[in-house]
Amino acid sequence: MSHKIILDTDPGIDDAMAIFFAFQHPEIDVLGLTTVFGNVPVDMAAKNAITLCDLAKQSIPVCKGVARPWVGPESTYAHFVHGDDGFGNIDYPAAKGEPDPRSSAQFIVDMARQYPGEITLVAIGPLGNLALALRLEPDLPKLIKGVSIMGGAAFVGGNVTPVAEANIWNDAYAAEIVFAADWELTMFGLDVTYACPFSPDFLTQLKSVNPSLGGFVHDAAQFYTQFYSQNEEQDVCYFHDAMPLAHLIEPSLFELKTGHARVSTDPLNQGQTSIALPNTTASPDWLEAQTIKVATKVNNQQLTQLYIDTYAL
Ligand code: RIB
Ligand code: CA
Repeated sequence: MSHKIILDTDPGIDDAMAIFFAFQHPEIDVLGLTTVFGNVPVDMAAKNAITLCDLAKQSIPVCKGVARPWVGPESTYAHFVHGDDGFGNIDYPAAKGEPDPRSSAQFIVDMARQYPGEITLVAIGPLGNLALALRLEPDLPKLIKGVSIMGGAAFVGGNVTPVAEANIWNDAYAAEIVFAADWELTMFGLDVTYACPFSPDFLTQLKSVNPSLGGFVHDAAQFYTQFYSQNEEQDVCYFHDAMPLAHLIEPSLFELKTGHARVSTDPLNQGQTSIALPNTTASPDWLEAQTIKVATKVNNQQLTQLYIDTYAL
């Protein structure tokens, strides 16, 4: 079964690994990359996405999206995690292409109208483009097959604050709009991504089975691994963004739970994703909120093998 997707992304090193996974897998049809600020400024995200498409020999639209959060100041970005260039400071030569003239949000709406009910939005950065698309086309939930996001932290702590994960924290008001929309949303948060650490050996395997794309990920992830390995006994990194894509291909690798979801926008708890599982609250603040699916467990070994097998194709 083929999955038509739009990948909304802030590349970013784990974004790059996820984008290449999507390009590699025969069951995934990437209609376009829609970029957003987050790990890096949106201009850099768009340039990096064009470079990734060029390296993977993919001629698909790359759109530039929102440059700052729905509310609040411009982001300070995550260059300390992804490098000044968003690719681990490997000075990879930027491709020459230009973004598609449509904004990310407009592209999402246009494609949803062109392929009603067929597209899965896979969002692996902050959610401003999806929120804007919902404002451009209020019927978007009826036109979209489903939404899968890397973001949030349901039953574990955050990675930007004790309660908030980066993609949601970066644009909490946009996330609130996206979580409240009447579509099928599945959240792959830190509950599963931090439960699946990757060693330098995994990077070596990716490079071995795919010297071009795997080699890029291997090289770019050296800086990224240094960040994640501070205060760790073993070198480690986390490929957060590929999980929603892996779920499209092998849903049985994941355990999902369903609950009512709220996103906090107050300054202290900005970006917290609180999930009320069945029969855990009588609060209308949660019972009247949309229900979403949340990934709570993943089979690490089979997931890792899926990544390697897909890069090897
Ligand atoms: O918290 C991890 C998420 O934030 C990932 O999508 C990473 O690329 C960053 O965007
Ligand atoms: Ca990302």
